[in-house]
Amino acid sequence: MSRQELKVNGAISAVKGIDAETSKSFFHPIQNPATGTAISENPPPLFQPLTIRGVRFANRVVVSPMSTAVLPNGRISPEDSGIWDDKHVGPLKRIVDFAHSQGAKIGIQIAHAGRKASTRSPFIAEQNPQLSLLVPKEDNGWPDNVVGPSPIPWDSKHATPDQLSIDEIHEIIDAFGKAAERALKAGFDVLELHFAHGYLLTEFFSPLSNQRTDQYGGSFENRIRFGLEIIERVRTIWPADRPLFIRVSATEWVDDEKSWKIDQTVEFAKIVKELGVDLIDCSSGGNVNYQHIPAANPLYQVPFAEQVRKEANIKTSAVGKITEAHQANEILERKQADLVVIGRAFLNNAGWVQKAAQELGVEIVWPIQYHRRGKYRL
Ligand SMILES: Cc1cc2nc3c(=O)[nH]c(=O)nc-3n(C[C@H](O)[C@H](O)[C@H](O)COP(=O)(O)O)c2cc1C
Repeated sequence: MSRQELKVNGAISAVKGIDAETSKSFFHPIQNPATGTAISENPPPLFQPLTIRGVRFANRVVVSPMSTAVLPNGRISPEDSGIWDDKHVGPLKRIVDFAHSQGAKIGIQIAHAGRKASTRSPFIAEQNPQLSLLVPKEDNGWPDNVVGPSPIPWDSKHATPDQLSIDEIHEIIDAFGKAAERALKAGFDVLELHFAHGYLLTEFFSPLSNQRTDQYGGSFENRIRFGLEIIERVRTIWPADRPLFIRVSATEWVDDEKSWKIDQTVEFAKIVKELGVDLIDCSSGGNVNYQHIPAANPLYQVPFAEQVRKEANIKTSAVGKITEAHQANEILERKQADLVVIGRAFLNNAGWVQKAAQELGVEIVWPIQYHRRGKYRL
């Protein structure tokens, strides 16, 4: 990639170049301050900046994570993105560099899918409803190499996982560490560990999926041990000036005494806070097929972010069905969370932040090429 910085009065005003992979030329002005920074005095909470460790977020809106696997057999589908090889650093860095040139901060969520691996991408399944959910080898799947805490399948359509040996658990801890190293090389600002949605770490946390009798199963302390060891490893690699987030399933939504519930999430949050975790991203569900998720209720996961924040005294983010600016702002106003995470509403409208600002009556910095009305303004 050729990349040239254009300077005016000694300051970089734009970058231009040719992308080595696509041979396409690019040109974009530097956005400083970042688009989405409030200009209005005393903006509402959604547009107040937040600094965690050495990273300053211009506002409280986060695009929801869409994760990256730490090992090939930790992908949910063959089409998932990955960070298990040094060759993944370059392409990820291109994304990071672009986000940074726009003044934005960017995080990566690293994951292992555990027993829910080797399944069809939703877009392939949708086009080919006759295909099995489990992806066979001939379609680049790895049905014989799906792993989990215990040989219990998610349902009859998923693989029965091989029970991980202690050595294999240690290899996965190494893989999370290496992934953190690569994420750092790529320049990400935030690292999030995906311990939610019934993927590998949720599977270890819950006695419904973890029936081990060794030091990684049984008691609460044993079931969370794998997660804590990953955190400890990653925190030695991820620098002290960069935030570490964890996404959890705050509850399994199962009416069973044994299941993982919000009280365990609060206990877990208190422990990981001491290990250098900065924020708990509170999602839910996904670990068993007999869950009953009240997802029809908008904001159904927000109370988890609130409870963890209050009881574990740690920063949290709220996620799930948050679509409107006033909802997001009220979550922050009521001190239910520190950040608001938006998924599908952002996919629907990449200008969600600008729209939210207009709805809340806040003036924010727009992309500099749009300015017509003086500094930062449209
Ligand atoms: C296309 C797509 C991919 C997703 N991938 C992930 C993922 O890799 N990790 C994760 O934690 N959540 C993932 N999610 C869930 C979102 O992060 C989010 O929690 C969920 O969509 C609920 O938020 P929303 O109602 O604002 O979309 C994904 C969602 C979508 C729509």
